[in-house]
Amino acid sequence: MTIVIDRKHEHFVGEVSGIDCRQAVTKEDGQLLNEALDQFGVLIFRKQAFTDLEQITFSKIFGEIELAKGGNVTKDKDRRLDVQMADVSNLDKDGNLLGRSDRRRMFNLGNRLWHSDSSYRVIPAKCSLLSCRSVASSGGDTEFAFMPAAYDALDQDTKMEIEELVTEHSLLYSRGQLGFTEFEDEERKAFAPVRQRLVRTNEFTGRKSIFLSSHIGSIIGWEIPEARDLIRELMEHATSQPFVYRHSWSVGDLVVWDNRQCMHRVRRFDDASEPRDMRRTTIAGTAKTVPQSN
Ligand code: OGA
Ligand code: MN
Repeated sequence: MTIVIDRKHEHFVGEVSGIDCRQAVTKEDGQLLNEALDQFGVLIFRKQAFTDLEQITFSKIFGEIELAKGGNVTKDKDRRLDVQMADVSNLDKDGNLLGRSDRRRMFNLGNRLWHSDSSYRVIPAKCSLLSCRSVASSGGDTEFAFMPAAYDALDQDTKMEIEELVTEHSLLYSRGQLGFTEFEDEERKAFAPVRQRLVRTNEFTGRKSIFLSSHIGSIIGWEIPEARDLIRELMEHATSQPFVYRHSWSVGDLVVWDNRQCMHRVRRFDDASEPRDMRRTTIAGTAKTVPQSN
């Protein structure tokens, strides 16, 4: 089979055909898909009915799996999936819907804010692979925004102003935006802010992008309100229609996105009434974007 990639949006998103992701992938095809991810930012694969193990195995063509620890408020004993998978569903370990006021549900609503996965980690994630196992009857689309195009469209003064800025990211900040502020001491420790560059350069394409995420709560050396004002403005620009692709899910879809170059968010659906089973593998990044210091 020969891999073919069709562009789905003016700026990004490739739909990949000619590959069965459940079969072993050759080294050449693995390299081709990594380069495609650099170029397209988002890759869509259809009709890939994975088992969890098949998804984990395929994911490794992109790098090392980032373990799903320290990124949510679900206790280890309550996990539904292996620690190599992030549970993006609305289900508990017995497959029942999380209750309306369940703390885990409240926390997971944070996925409705634009973000880059694991930007709250010292080494932020490279990419995410999200497999659709069941869909909601309406809503629950996922939107993606392409940051190199958003960067290119900034005026020269703004580009110069943000070039060297360093931001702080934390799950405390993104959840705080929804009014979720009741964290246990252990969680506050685990979710301590980390530093990230605001402008990143893709090593393969050489393109710059704005490294935005709702996890951002401050800019080093700036007053909080002025930092949040700038971030809000950049967010509004970067998620405006020209830079956004919306994916409507079918069971068996696999979408891979580059967290170094894209943000994403899930749109509203009736998550307290209907199951939506999405399983994510995450590939770890390889380097910090800036040195950390306290
Ligand atoms: C994710 C996420 C989007 C969705 O998997 O990282 O933010 O569609 N979820 O559930
Ligand atoms: Mn996410």
